[in-house]
Amino acid sequence: MNSRDAILYEKEYLCPTYTRPDALFVKGIGSRVYDAEGNSYLDLVGGLGVLSLGHCHPVFVEEIKLQLQTLIHTSNLYHTELQLLLAKMLSELSLEGKVFFANSGAEANEAAIKLARLYRDGRFKILTAEGSFHGRTLATLSATAQEKVQKGFKPLVPHFSHFEFNNLSSIEIDEETSAIMVEPIQGERGVYPADKEFLEGLRKLCNKEDILLIFDEVQTGIGRTGSLFAYQEYGVIPDIITLAKGLGGGIPIGCMIARKGLGELLGPGMHASTLGGNPIATRAGLSVLSILNKELLAGVRENGNCLKEKLRRLPRIKEVRGMGLMIGIEIDGDANSVVKMCFKNGLLVNAPNSSCVRLLPPLIITKEEIDEGVSILKRVLNGL
Ligand SMILES: Cc1ncc(COP(=O)(O)O)c(C=O)c1O
Repeated sequence: MNSRDAILYEKEYLCPTYTRPDALFVKGIGSRVYDAEGNSYLDLVGGLGVLSLGHCHPVFVEEIKLQLQTLIHTSNLYHTELQLLLAKMLSELSLEGKVFFANSGAEANEAAIKLARLYRDGRFKILTAEGSFHGRTLATLSATAQEKVQKGFKPLVPHFSHFEFNNLSSIEIDEETSAIMVEPIQGERGVYPADKEFLEGLRKLCNKEDILLIFDEVQTGIGRTGSLFAYQEYGVIPDIITLAKGLGGGIPIGCMIARKGLGELLGPGMHASTLGGNPIATRAGLSVLSILNKELLAGVRENGNCLKEKLRRLPRIKEVRGMGLMIGIEIDGDANSVVKMCFKNGLLVNAPNSSCVRLLPPLIITKEEIDEGVSILKRVLNGL
């Protein structure tokens, strides 16, 4: 199949939910992907923040290959060792609580939403931030306070209310409220980091009202910010963390970690997933976590800072936001045109909205690759 066939097949057989460039990707190595015609692209999208180890990391590939030859799936009716080991590792690295495995970020958030409903009898309202993104299932798109995501799917799941991000005084807690769910950095809105005082304020408020603080770390988690979890950058500890994307390095996995005393509320039969945390997914999670060592995380922080500095010097830049290798570039011009022009020049970037270009490169990206990306962006921005 070539790139032209891909366009024909898409038209004929796929629901038209995505707008894609006219290319068919067939291979990936490190921070680079290749299309069917042999063109190469520097990948600063990283599978939307999924490819923590880049494309086809050799150790990751070997470990998954071995697992494929050993045990692929049993269902959650049975114990499998890797699931137990990954749960132990994630728990020890974060809240020292209990873990539930799912297959995606939305499913991880669904588990958190269900758990919040169990926390206090008769309380079922969850507060989320305007501009947030928590997924596309009915409950998570109701949590997602963005009209463009909800359009066409009303009536929504009730009992979600919204507050202004980074504005504590906009939060109204009543006797029905059970939890506040927030992204430490709002990714889909265009990479807006929370203020430290805001998250600290949320923590205090949740303690005072005895409600849960849920951090959606689906995009920020697993090293993206330079710490294993973004909450560690802020020094604010939530009651529940949700993860997905980078944890699987490209193999689907979702995960909810709940602090001690909370996870226990999800008793036998109350929640489940056929494939959640299966041996391939949990092998992937363990591989990612074992390769993401302190040195690599330090590199994420250093490369992220260096990249931001370089981006600030480019033409038509209004603002550069973000932490580690999660970066939003506010530009004076149409971000979608920048994405298209970068693509033509062999660079993958993404635009969460029409004024922001977002970068979520593999965490293993090199300084030389960063320079290459910046120089293509410069050329494109100069030509706007
Ligand atoms: C913060 C956040 N939460 C949840 C999701 C949904 O994850 P998934 O697409 O794996 O369901 C995303 C996806 O972009 C996200 O960025």
